[in-house]
Amino acid sequence: ATILDLALGMPKAELHIHIEGSLEPELAFALAQRNGVALPFADVDALRRAYDFEDLQSFLDLYYACAAVLRTEADFHDLMLAYLRRAAADGVVHAEVFFDPQTHTPRGVPFATVLAGLESGAEAARKESGISTRLIPNFLRHLSEEEGFAALAEMAPFIDRIHGFGLDSSERGHPPSKFERLFARCRELGKPVVAHAGEEGPPAYIVEALDLLKVSRIDHGVRAVEDAALMARLARERMPLTVCPLSNVRLCVFKDMREHTLPALLKQGLCATINCDDPAYFGGYLGDNIRALQAAFDFDASVWYRLARNSFEASFVDAAQRGVWV
Ligand code: ADE
Ligand code: ZN
Repeated sequence: ATILDLALGMPKAELHIHIEGSLEPELAFALAQRNGVALPFADVDALRRAYDFEDLQSFLDLYYACAAVLRTEADFHDLMLAYLRRAAADGVVHAEVFFDPQTHTPRGVPFATVLAGLESGAEAARKESGISTRLIPNFLRHLSEEEGFAALAEMAPFIDRIHGFGLDSSERGHPPSKFERLFARCRELGKPVVAHAGEEGPPAYIVEALDLLKVSRIDHGVRAVEDAALMARLARERMPLTVCPLSNVRLCVFKDMREHTLPALLKQGLCATINCDDPAYFGGYLGDNIRALQAAFDFDASVWYRLARNSFEASFVDAAQRGVWV
């Protein structure tokens, strides 16, 4: 077998996937029809042609527009099952899945509906392939901390079904410090927290996520390479970075995959992992990310083993379960 086959076949965890970002155009149009919701595109091809982004915000505008077709428990079930089938086909045995409650509840879709659909989709996938799933709601950072507290209050009755909390959406101008009190509250509830930082924002946002939000992982974090002291700290603390290579190229964080900082992160001993972020929008699932990295960097087998091990080390599963996979 080739090194690529080896990488694709290894058991892996995926830790940075926004379930709304796995909404393929075909499913978006099917759900639009099922729910009587209009999409601002004539057809699947027209929507796909809009997947031409210049930065994070140009993507987010489309991502939020398409999320409007998600209305019922069945919609969230179908979305989750479709993603987990594709993940399992790429060797993913465990997925920690982000979702954005504040994208749905203001449209009148109750948090209970979103959660029940995602859970039943995850259960259906578990029966098919054995894949395990954990759910991590994100707060939208372009909204206020007060709105975040309101979202947390809506989730409170379901807290035992939520594994942790995250922070996503428009990074620039919305530093982690804006959410210091909200994240302290999430940690008081006994949950690990994570945050997108250093995707488009500066390394200082990564430092804030560590020091003020006390995160257990950094989502993206690829701009850490601009700060040598931060790189040394991330390596020393074995702070995981959930890196999303195709996402970074599609959102113009890097011009070309060959300019990606993943090799530098690994070389300096960081616990970097690879993930698909928003696979419907960015050119594919974990396997597609693996193929793109191998084409750009021609990694040897030891790098792929390292990435797979990192994915389990960075996950929220306990040591006993981890021992089954690694
Ligand atoms: N929401 C969905 N994908 C995201 C990303 N890559 N960065 C920030 N927010 C997001
Ligand atoms: Zn993301």
